[in-house]
Amino acid sequence: MLEDKRLLLIIGGGIAAYKSLDLIRRLKERGASVRVVMTSAAQHFITPLAAGALSHDRVFTELFDREAEQDIGHIRLSREADLLIVAPATADLMAKMAHGLADDLASAVLLANTRPVLLAPAMNPAMWANVATRRNAAQLAADGVRFVGPNAGAMAERGEDGAGRMAEPLEIVATVEAMLAAGGPLSGRHVLVTSGPTHEPIDPVRYIANRSSGKQGHAIAAAAARAGARVTLVSGPVNLPAPPGVTLRPVESARDMLAAVETALPADVAIFAAAVADWRAASEAPEKMKKDGGALPPLALTENPDILATIAHRTSGRPRLVIGFAAETQNVVAYAQAKRARKGCDWIVANDVSAHSGIPGGVMGGDTNEVHLITAEGSEAWPRASKAEVAARLIARIAAALGERESES
Ligand code: CTP
Repeated sequence: MLEDKRLLLIIGGGIAAYKSLDLIRRLKERGASVRVVMTSAAQHFITPLAAGALSHDRVFTELFDREAEQDIGHIRLSREADLLIVAPATADLMAKMAHGLADDLASAVLLANTRPVLLAPAMNPAMWANVATRRNAAQLAADGVRFVGPNAGAMAERGEDGAGRMAEPLEIVATVEAMLAAGGPLSGRHVLVTSGPTHEPIDPVRYIANRSSGKQGHAIAAAAARAGARVTLVSGPVNLPAPPGVTLRPVESARDMLAAVETALPADVAIFAAAVADWRAASEAPEKMKKDGGALPPLALTENPDILATIAHRTSGRPRLVIGFAAETQNVVAYAQAKRARKGCDWIVANDVSAHSGIPGGVMGGDTNEVHLITAEGSEAWPRASKAEVAARLIARIAAALGERESES
């Protein structure tokens, strides 16, 4: 079954394109959402109207479509998919992929893509056998692209025979199912990550913030996506792009962040890496506050909701694994253990963010981290490593813990 899977189908130009309409139907029947990109050559064989009627979505055809670029864009088209299918994959599309060309929407999407790709080639047997196509197919296989077909049999051209027929829709569906099932240790899981600082408005031009860069949270979201999870990243304002394959929910304040987290649930795992502002202005001035002859404006503060504690204490719909962060400047492990108990989370990733942490340039904003993992069993000191390595290690631990919990229950 392909329930909740997001597929991007790129239809190339060939007579086999008519089978792609059936493929859309088969994928939809299994619960997948299917977005379609068509090359201009494909439109000589089938219409975007037919593909859209079956996919129940708009069909994307143009690279320089202002409306589509603003709305979805060729980068998001692939990022928002769990897997890309190219069917039929023509000799021309394969050549473009093998060489990294990007002169139309289909090839630009493929070049920007970081998700798994399945090709269902379809072409005249002489074209499939040609050394140029052999070379391109070998290169694409070496690049990690998967193939289904082509099959041997009668071709549309009269009298032509040999390998070149596109695989049947059900064969393609079976390959997609296998690829997604074996998609990594967190495939089929939903992982929710918060990242970055929050901005708490004082008036229309001023806000309270902190030095969080979002690097650690974003690295965790990226690692979870690489492990095959569906990832929702709720992030405060940062100067980082959304990692590939991750659904980004940008927010400003702590209250926005809590609302976005609650909307994103249910999740199997929730990781709260954001540096949420503990306080906000008790009231936001509707107009810019003006200097007033020396008298300082009053700035009353009020406490923000604790997002981690709120989710960890949920009695229904609590993620199976709730993980918090603790930024400390002294007594790192003891403070983090107390925080784990107080907030009701399963694990805490604790780090020393003080100037004397020994990390050159510091942890906040830097690329390096040195953490302790605090669990119910105790604490572990992890060696100093890049934030990407810390993220990968944490994700591996999460995958192992979910596996253990499942085998216990
Ligand atoms: N957190 C949260 N919502 C808040 C405050 C914190 O979700 N309003 C989460 C953070 O994302 C992080 C953990 O709670 O996972 C950190 O807790 P916090 O008590 O804010 O940590 P410190 O700032 O280190 O706290 P303290 O001031 O108590 O040392």
